[in-house]
Amino acid sequence: MKQRFSTTIAYGCAALLATFTYSVSAKQVSISSPDQSITVVVSDEAGFPTYKVSHQNKPVFSESKMGLAFKSLPEFGSEFVITSETRSEFSEVWEQPWGERQFVENTYNEVSITFADKDESKWQFSARFRVYNDGIGFRYEIPEIKGESKVEVVDEDTEFGFASDATAYWIPGRGWNRYEYIYNTTALEDVDRAHTPFTTKLPTGVHVSIHEAALVDYAAFTLDQRRPGVFKTDLTPWYDGSKVKTQLPFKSSWRTIQIASEATGLLNSNLILNLNEPNKLGDVSWVNPGKYVGIWWAMHVNEKTWGSGEKHGATNDETRRYIDFAAKYGFDGVLVEGWNIGWDGSWFHNGDVFSFTESYPDFDLPALAKYAKQKGVKLVGHHETSGSVTNYRNQMADAYDLYEKMGIEQIKTGYVADGGRIKRIDEQGHARHEWHDGQFMVNEYLHSITEAAKRKISINTHEPIKDTGLRRTYPNWIAREGARGQEFNAWGSPPNPPEHTAILPYTRMLSGPMDFTPGIFNLAPYGLQAENRVKTTLAKQLALYVVLYSPIQMAADLPRHYENNKPALQFIVDVPTDWSDSIALAGEIGDYVVFARKSRESEDWYVGALTDENARTVEIDLSFLDADAAYEMQVYQDGKNADWLDRPYEIEIYSKMVRAKDKVTLKMATSGGTAIRFAKK
Ligand code: NOJ
Ligand code: CA
Repeated sequence: MKQRFSTTIAYGCAALLATFTYSVSAKQVSISSPDQSITVVVSDEAGFPTYKVSHQNKPVFSESKMGLAFKSLPEFGSEFVITSETRSEFSEVWEQPWGERQFVENTYNEVSITFADKDESKWQFSARFRVYNDGIGFRYEIPEIKGESKVEVVDEDTEFGFASDATAYWIPGRGWNRYEYIYNTTALEDVDRAHTPFTTKLPTGVHVSIHEAALVDYAAFTLDQRRPGVFKTDLTPWYDGSKVKTQLPFKSSWRTIQIASEATGLLNSNLILNLNEPNKLGDVSWVNPGKYVGIWWAMHVNEKTWGSGEKHGATNDETRRYIDFAAKYGFDGVLVEGWNIGWDGSWFHNGDVFSFTESYPDFDLPALAKYAKQKGVKLVGHHETSGSVTNYRNQMADAYDLYEKMGIEQIKTGYVADGGRIKRIDEQGHARHEWHDGQFMVNEYLHSITEAAKRKISINTHEPIKDTGLRRTYPNWIAREGARGQEFNAWGSPPNPPEHTAILPYTRMLSGPMDFTPGIFNLAPYGLQAENRVKTTLAKQLALYVVLYSPIQMAADLPRHYENNKPALQFIVDVPTDWSDSIALAGEIGDYVVFARKSRESEDWYVGALTDENARTVEIDLSFLDADAAYEMQVYQDGKNADWLDRPYEIEIYSKMVRAKDKVTLKMATSGGTAIRFAKK
């Protein structure tokens, strides 16, 4: 596919086309997407506000409840009727500073519907719906109310009532391990409480994913199945059971529903980003996508330790060795974990003792930052909080100042918390335990982002709040974890199954970039038969760089394993992390996926394809390439006899000239993959 928008269009066509307000006597308000494929009907006929959704005239959600419950205000729900509607249309093309595509089309029809209690006296609220060709966003907007300022939301009544059965792809919500679970594939009725993005496939083949966008100063929701097929937003509570503590007026985050005729339609959707506010940071030319290596996997496979002692990983010598390796192969950054005081003993349980400014004696931060600079490499900072956020908050300004002074422009943060809850100390000095996705932590994570931005530092959050597209507003929120990453292959019981990365693109990745940390070459550090190993082929590790989008990608393995396989390393050296366009070419959830992406720095295209535990052959046509150009296709594919279990290392690397009119057959082994560079000649 060609570059879809010219720059003139990109800058020229932001336009609010029309706004009309009506007083409504009718009890139904209907609004459709610009292409008419999706329709939402909002009604008060049931005696409370409802909405329903159809796609190509077939019901997706039947009448589903809306509403909010407060501690002191009356419930916004039953007895509320529609009193007015305001319609508008909007279309623009906006530019991402970095991303999976440079230009994003944002075109929708909007209606804001006001509900009031029956005697139309004091209580009113609005629900704003935006209907796009790829889905829907709606949110609650509660206006100022005379005599009321502080409010507590104690429940939200939004429901998603599936009109049919479906297959669901989901991880449990409110578990101790946050988002780090193996995905379940079940009938809809077998879902309990699920995190979002919550992705389903309807019997018609239509794919629907529920999530939220622009989550700021509000609680995240999980989905609770209340009646068969009816899911309710379950806002994550504070330690005291309250859901949202705020001031009037306020807005909820957007409840989002992505709808596509095919699985790949979800992957090509921009809905979540489009529902976020534009960049609030101004010039963000200091936010740099790139690739990094680090003193990291060595700890996860027990060769080194975070804590001090004989096996300490973050030493001057070891760091210099990684800097040299990064410089040799053109990696931008070197992450060093375990450099700061506080890791000794059980760091998992002991976040209160971390210092974020004092190094262990065998780690000389200024000298290493200087050495890295001489070599054209940047150190990547690291702050593990072990969930003690007050300890972190108290040192945050000093810690970020120190890194700024050292020329460090990116920090990986971590919020591992024993038992699943974050510890904070309240104003009275009492310890309070909060969920990672409650309102308190939603604000705490964002505070780290805005504080870092003041110092031109970007943040890669591990154990994060789920992504809701805030990278559009805060482009220094460069990546995050928020799912089971590579680390589970080192010690997880069980490690990630072969289908894991064939589910992630359709679930977790719909929310935004993930720091998965691909590129393990020594797939079985404890032997092929050991429980803990990487359950993929080598070629699939390369494909992950294209499949799992992130503007920062780690080459996660140890330098010696890369030095031992330079031909395969070449792909990691070549692959960019910033794209002018991305197209999901083919795929089915849990089975396989094929992405094509165009580099932002050159005219080259890349393809990444991967499969689950089944070997698979997929034919792709190359019509995304320039019609009048020739490309050298550099292929990294599973060898003829490769399989993930016994022969994961067999890889075939070859080159061939191709053109846009050609077709290519991708042959993937069990849990295999293909990675291709198309170098324009
Ligand atoms: C969990 C992170 O996901 C992992 O990457 C990191 O090494 C450890 N915490 C220690 O900070
Ligand atoms: Ca983690």
